[in-house]
Parts: sequence; C-alpha cells; structure tokens
Amino acid sequence: MEERSRILAVDDAPDNLILLNKLLKRQGFDVSNAASGKECLSKTAGEHPDLILLDVAMPEMDGFETLKHLKANELSKDIPVIILTANSKDAVSIEQGFSLGADEYLTKPIDQEELIARVRSILRAVKAEHEIEQLKSDFQSMLVHDLRSPLSVIIGVLELGVNGEFDQNPGEMKEFMSSALDTSQKMLGLINDILDVAKLEAGKLQLNKQPNDLNAVVASAVARLKILAREKGIVLTVEFGKDLPIGEFDSGKMDQVVTNLVSNAIKFTPKDGKVLIRTYIRRFENDVLGLKGTFAALDVEDTGVGISSDEIPMIFDRYRQARSAKNSVQKGTGLGLTIVKRVTESHGGRVFVESSLGKGTKFTVVIPVTEEEMVSQ
Ligand SMILES: Nc1ncnc2c1ncn2[C@@H]1O[C@H](COP(=O)(O)OP(=O)(O)OP(=O)(O)O)[C@@H](O)[C@H]1O
Ligand SMILES: [Mg+2]
Repeated sequence: MEERSRILAVDDAPDNLILLNKLLKRQGFDVSNAASGKECLSKTAGEHPDLILLDVAMPEMDGFETLKHLKANELSKDIPVIILTANSKDAVSIEQGFSLGADEYLTKPIDQEELIARVRSILRAVKAEHEIEQLKSDFQSMLVHDLRSPLSVIIGVLELGVNGEFDQNPGEMKEFMSSALDTSQKMLGLINDILDVAKLEAGKLQLNKQPNDLNAVVASAVARLKILAREKGIVLTVEFGKDLPIGEFDSGKMDQVVTNLVSNAIKFTPKDGKVLIRTYIRRFENDVLGLKGTFAALDVEDTGVGISSDEIPMIFDRYRQARSAKNSVQKGTGLGLTIVKRVTESHGGRVFVESSLGKGTKFTVVIPVTEEEMVSQ
C-alpha cells in the first residue's frame, strides 16, 4: 500500500487548526499540528513532514521568520511549504513568501477545494522528482557496471596479446580481437547515446539538415539490423512507400531513430515473431494533433511483448524501462526512445505508439516533407 503523506499544519488560531485537520484527514492525509513558529521547527525536525502549511500572521516568530529557518536547515530545506496569508491583496507578503522559498500561497478564508488541489499537486510534483532522482542513481550504478564489465573484457584480450599468448596462433588472435572490437563498439554506442541525450536536453544538438529520402535511411538501417533479426529467428519485412517526398533532415540522426525503433522491436519480440517496417506519405489536414501538411511516415510494428497502457506515457522518459522489459534477458539503458522522441521532434515531427500487452507494438514516426507542386500542363 502507498504510504500516506504527512502534513504539518501551522497556525496560532486553534479554530483554524481544527478546520485544517478535519479537511486534510478526510482526504486521507496524516496531519500534525503546530501552534507557533517555534513548535513548527521542532516538529519538522522530529517528524520530517512531506509538506508544511504555514500561517503567516503569528505572534513571536511569524511565518516568514519560520520559513527562513526551515530553508536555512539542510534537513528541512526541501520540504515544500504553502503559506497561508490573511489578505488576498497583500501582494507584498505573497512576493516575500516566494522569495523566501515558499512553493505556493493560499489566502484566508481557505477555499477547501483549492487547498486540497494545491496540496495534491505539490505532493505529486515532489514524488515525480524523487522518482527521477531514484532513476538517475539506479542509472549511474548501472552505467558504471555497463562500462566496467566490457572494459575488463577488452583489457583481458589486450593483456593476452601483450603477453604473447597469440604469437603462435593468429587465428585465435583474430577471434579474440573481433570480440574486443565488438565490445568496444557497444561501449562507444552507449557513451554516444548518453552524450546525445544530454545535448538534446540542453537543446545543443546540431542538426545537419539536408534534402534526404526516408526510404534510403530505412534501407541502410534495415540492412544492418537484418542479421540481428535472423539470429533471433525473427522475420523482418520492409514495405517501402512509393514516391515518398524528399524531406529536410539529418540523415545520421534519423538513422538513429530508425535503428532504435527496429532494434527495440527485435529485442522485445520473441523467437518466430514478426517485425514489419513500412514507409508511406501521411497528410494531416486541419492541425490534427498540432500537425499540418505532408509528412513522411514510418511504422515499426512487432508481434512482441507489448507495453501496458499505464506505462506507455513513461517509456519516452530517459532511463525508463517498462516492467515487461525488466523481466526480459535483454538489457538496455532506457535511452533509445528518449533519443527517438527528441530527434523526431527537433525535426518538427512526432512519434506515436499503440501497443497491446502480449500482442505487440506499433511505433509511428512522422517527419515533415515538402511535396512538389504539381504543375498543370
Ligand atoms: N517494441 C517494443 N515492444 C515492447 N516494449 C518496448 C518496445 N520498445 C520499447 N519498449 C519499452 O520501452 C522501454 C524504453 O525503450 P528504450 O529504447 O528507451 O530503452 P531500452 O531499449 O530498454 O534501452 P536502450 O535503447 O537504451 O538500449 C523499454 O525498456 C521497453 O520496456
Ligand atoms: Mg532501445
């Protein structure tokens, strides 16, 4: 069961505390009270609440003073605070509250629905932030592992060579060398993915846009991935759309898009499954989903494990992997789809996904193209 969020309500007026208590408890929160700034600080240190509702007008230590102390303390500085001000027109107080680090303000008399909505939205945001932090630290430990183990393979091969182990056996040397080469290339791929994601997120990825044909990009990516599919016993089929208009795009980056989608399809489809790749023209007439005009489209459809509907919105987040993938033997870092989405969108395109758990998945990428004007003769 999910842990209940704990809220500390701080107000010098007992009536207000009773009201806040009732209201929040009814919504399933754990509530504790403090009747002064001082009490707020000591309870915060002892209970470490998930959120603090802080009245501004209190004798002795007022809300602002209390807020300053909370934010100055390493242990309490990240706890979100909603300040409760008496006067809705008191812009100065509100401004002061924000500048001291408050997350929200509410004016008295408290609107019950608004209070609950704000509390929930702040708690949600905090939870999402924690999840990302957790993912990042998981990712870092995984990354260290993912870079360390192949590196030891490479070092092992080099040591053998240096020690003269292959002197009498060039055939064996070649075998070991090619496995070290393969391992190095995988490492480089991982490092490049990490750098790409960082650049895409900082908006610093330079796109080298040139007139290009999506079919050509798909053909070369598929030629590379055919072997992988064959090794896994998967039938890979390609249907190239005819007369696909030329688009302005970075062919190297679009190659990454295609490669990531097709290698995912192969990775998450069991033996004897099918992967179908299709290109075609897609026209959006009236700003459908924010898109208008002519697009080159790519479908990558598989008969694999699928993704549950509650996980679909998250798979494009970096480091994120669905439950079905975690159970699979195939390892990844969860960067592929982040790159797919960011690259596609930086070309003015979009990615769509439809999936059904246990049946299969279809990803569709559309990127804008310019259709030749038809000159009537
Ligand atoms: N074709 C697919 N079928 C089923 N699940 C998929 C498919 N493509 C992606 N997923 C799910 O989305 C997750 C994120 O995909 P993504 O490509 O970002 O990461 P990855 O393949 O696990 O690792 P990486 O691509 O970094 O090696 C996957 O872990 C998997 O759970
Ligand atoms: Mg992937």
